Order: sequence, then structure tokens, then C-alpha cells
Amino acid sequence: MEIIRSVEKVKNQCSDLIKQDKQIGFVATMGFFHEGHLNLMTQAKKENDIVVASIFVNPLQFGPNEDYENYPRDEEHDILLAKQTGVDILFIPTVREMYPNQMLIRMSVEARTDVLCGRSRPGHFDGVITVLTKLFHIIQPNRTYFGLKDAQQVAVVDALIISLNFPIELIGIETIREQDGLAKSSRNVHLNNEERNEAVWIYKALMKGQQLVVDGEKNPAIVVNEVKNVLREHTSGTIDYVELVSYPRLTPIIAINEQVILATAVKFRKARLIDNLLLNENGEIVNQYLQEGI
Ligand code: PAJ
Repeated sequence: MEIIRSVEKVKNQCSDLIKQDKQIGFVATMGFFHEGHLNLMTQAKKENDIVVASIFVNPLQFGPNEDYENYPRDEEHDILLAKQTGVDILFIPTVREMYPNQMLIRMSVEARTDVLCGRSRPGHFDGVITVLTKLFHIIQPNRTYFGLKDAQQVAVVDALIISLNFPIELIGIETIREQDGLAKSSRNVHLNNEERNEAVWIYKALMKGQQLVVDGEKNPAIVVNEVKNVLREHTSGTIDYVELVSYPRLTPIIAINEQVILATAVKFRKARLIDNLLLNENGEIVNQYLQEGI
């Protein structure tokens, strides 16, 4: 595995690989790897000649009162794990390398961001699409792999690919969970023992909501209320949101008659955790993403 820190170098290397007709699979990350990240890389390895992964904690996507400074980092361990997983090129730029000058262009997402994390983290997805646009241009992957743990991000990346005509296949991969159901997240290290025990109720609450839909409930408000009640009863965290909207368009719905996302964000002392379930109209869990367009 080659570790590259320069934009110019990784760009040239990827251009050379493309000239040799190699298919490139790309996994963008902010590091502090867990199985959720590694599973994306494993999948990319199966479907491409070359896997490029990036580690970059992107300041543009963090709000002023968010955890940019405290975001967990462990480059050495990440390098080891990426190597073991079969990554060919690990791109680790500094902030100065990615943003040497003030950005002359500002990108903003015009849809799919007035709900869920987009609403509670203004500007977050603008920062995400900005860094991804740069990374897509630098690496020019054939395929890119994203986790459905961040399902709104997947919907926004699809919008980016459609709107800016990136010739990239987007693959959404199922959420990897701890044994008790808690979605794996780099931010889980910031939970104390008590919060860690409570955090499993995020998943359990979503599952309770899902069960209602399976049992025939069509009213999103009733499902959302059930999830909120379970969360309030079993966690000390503050509910940021619980929402049930269409997916991937992320528009409000009156009745559950299409694919939907049931999603929540809960704030603990030092970590804001998110989780979601994608459900079809019968309430069955959907673990795949159907790309809307290339
Ligand atoms: P990060 O949070 O590091 O996540 C990198 C990728 O791993 C994302 O596609 C995310 O959805 C996926 N992922 C994280 N936890 C997962 C889990 N438990 N199961 C499955 N996939 C999981 O998302 C970002 O970084 C950034 O916003 C980024 C796209 C890199 C842009 O800066």
C-alpha cells in the first residue's frame, strides 16, 4: 500500500492507472477506522482493480460549535488497518494541501438538506460536497462507496453526481453495527459507560418504529412518536430529531406508501450519534441504494 500526502502525486498516479485501463474504487473517510469503513474498502476491493481510500477530517463540514478539534484521529492505526484490508493507495492530505488558498467557489446543496442532519447542521452538506467534488476530480474513480449509516449523505452525493455529471457509480453499503445493534461510529469513543449502555436504545427505538410500519401503521407521525417515547424512556441523551420522510428525495410524506427513511440524531455529552433505517412501504428494511442517475 502506498501512502500519498500530495494532491499532485495522487492525481498523477490515478491518471496513470486510468491510462492503463485500471478500474478505481474510492472510499472517502475522515479516519479512525472501524468495520463500517473497512467494509466499504473490502467491497471496493471486490469490484475494482485498485482501491483508493482517503483520510481527511474536512474542516468545511464542521459547524463552529461542532467537534472538528476533538474528532478522533489515529493515523498510524488507520494505516495498518487499511493495509490489511487491501487498500492500494491511502491518500492523507493536510488541510493546507486540500485548501491551500481561500475557496473561490462556494458550493451549496439545493435539495435534500432541509430535513434531518441538513437542518440541524447548517452548511454541513455544503462542506461535504465541496470536499467530495475535489476528491472526485483528483482521484477520478469509476466507483465510490458510501455507508447507509449516513443515508442523507448518500442521497446528497447522488444529487451531486447527477447535477454535476460525475461519471461515477455510487454504491451504498449497509450499516455495520456492534453486537448489540449500536451503529459503529468513530464518535462512539466519546461515550462514557452509561451512555454506551443507553446508546443501544437508538437502534432499538428505530426498530420499534419499524415494527409499527410492519404491523400496518401508515401514519409517519405515530411512528415518529413511538421512537421519541422509547428514546426518552431509555436514554439521557437529548433528541436532536426523529423524522420519517421519503427516501432518497427526503420530502415530507402524509402516508407511508413508498421507500422511506426513519432517522434520528441523539446528543450525548460529548457525542452526537445518528442512525436510521431505510424501509420499503411494507416496513421491510432496505440495505441497498439504487443510484438515481449517472
Ligand atoms: P466518515 O464519517 O469517516 O465516514 C466515511 C464513510 O464510512 C461514509 O461513507 C460513512 O457512511 C461510512 N460509515 C461510517 N460508519 C459506518 C457504519 N457503521 N456502517 C457503514 N458505513 C459506515 O462520512 C464521512 O466520513 C465524511 O462526511 C466524508 C464523506 C469523508 C466527507 O468528508
